[in-house]
Amino acid sequence: MPKMPSMIHFCLPPSLNYSICQRQSEFQVVLLTYAIIRSMKILGIETSCDETAAAVVEDGANIMSSIVASQVDIHARYGGIVPEVASRQHLITALPVVESAMAEAKVAWQDIAVIAVTIGPGLAGSLLVGVNVAKAIALAQGLPLIGVNHLEGHIYANWLGHSQPVFPCLCLIVSGGHSDLVLMTGHGQFERLGRTRDDAAGEAFDKGARILGLGYPGGPAIEAAAKGGVPSLPLPRAWLKGSDDFSFSGLKTALLHLVQDKGLLDAPLVAEAAASFQQAIVDVLVTKTMQAAERLGVRQILLAGGVAANKTLGNYITRHSPVPVLIPPPNLCTDNAAMIAACAYYHFQSGKIDGYDIDIVASLSLG
Ligand code: KG4
Ligand code: ZN
Repeated sequence: MPKMPSMIHFCLPPSLNYSICQRQSEFQVVLLTYAIIRSMKILGIETSCDETAAAVVEDGANIMSSIVASQVDIHARYGGIVPEVASRQHLITALPVVESAMAEAKVAWQDIAVIAVTIGPGLAGSLLVGVNVAKAIALAQGLPLIGVNHLEGHIYANWLGHSQPVFPCLCLIVSGGHSDLVLMTGHGQFERLGRTRDDAAGEAFDKGARILGLGYPGGPAIEAAAKGGVPSLPLPRAWLKGSDDFSFSGLKTALLHLVQDKGLLDAPLVAEAAASFQQAIVDVLVTKTMQAAERLGVRQILLAGGVAANKTLGNYITRHSPVPVLIPPPNLCTDNAAMIAACAYYHFQSGKIDGYDIDIVASLSLG
């Protein structure tokens, strides 16, 4: 098939795009044109935490480019994320990252149909950089703007590539700031069933790694250390019976006491503690997700967020689930902009376009 320009520019001069798209009937004409041309490229921008990311995604599924500039080395010096440092770093890297994403995708601005950007949840200073960069580009290029919930973006990472959504599905979103169990009944239809009452799963991994002297970020460090150990140490699980909520702060405290009791840990003991700690988190996440899945009769389970990159979690949930489980590849579990562009594609399809006055919502939730 010959390469066609993306749909909005195919039918409208760029300067008129946004204002005309605001009108419902004309928007439907644009959608129809899109359905015929079948190629819609969205530039996604993500700066909610400590990764500056930009990506070009076609039709919500085909990743043409995905650039992630990680600040991990900078924050590792402090043992965790320093918000002011994160936002300053986003300022330095945002435009080069966007330019790299455009270059790698081999597209020009007239090929882009929509600018998508994360508006929350996240660090306010970090979100502001991404949102203002997105607004500036959208205004300068006369493109529509779509604000995306970061957690919703994590879910949509599951449908990049060839996987198809099957509703109703149960989403376990486990990241540095969230452990949410969310029922999804359709695109944009969410009901939050449970959340963390204290530490998020990723936060627990990060704090546990610090206790074990394994560095930052803790999830990959604990996973690597756990490979050399057996999960045999007795650590508690907070089941919170009758609730879909999670709690990991008691587990973290138990690990701290264990380390204090044992004194200086040698490598085999660190490995055993890491394996036991990881298994305790995985047991709780998987058991509670299975209970909710059976109760609700969902047809699919989706893992999302940085902790979804954990292989022990992925293997354990896949083995125990009575329904298919989708898990994004590791580079799409952690923060990236391809998931933001993919999510915006479905917003656009349902007519959800934002104004140039969108703002960040640092404590945004889902459902
Ligand atoms: O989704 P994400 O990249 O950023 C947030 O939205 O928070 O998640 C980051 C979190 C960190 O806490 C990190 O330790 C954890 O995901 N993480 C992992 C793994 N890779 C990243 N946790 C366990 N195992 C991993 N392999
Ligand atoms: Zn995230």
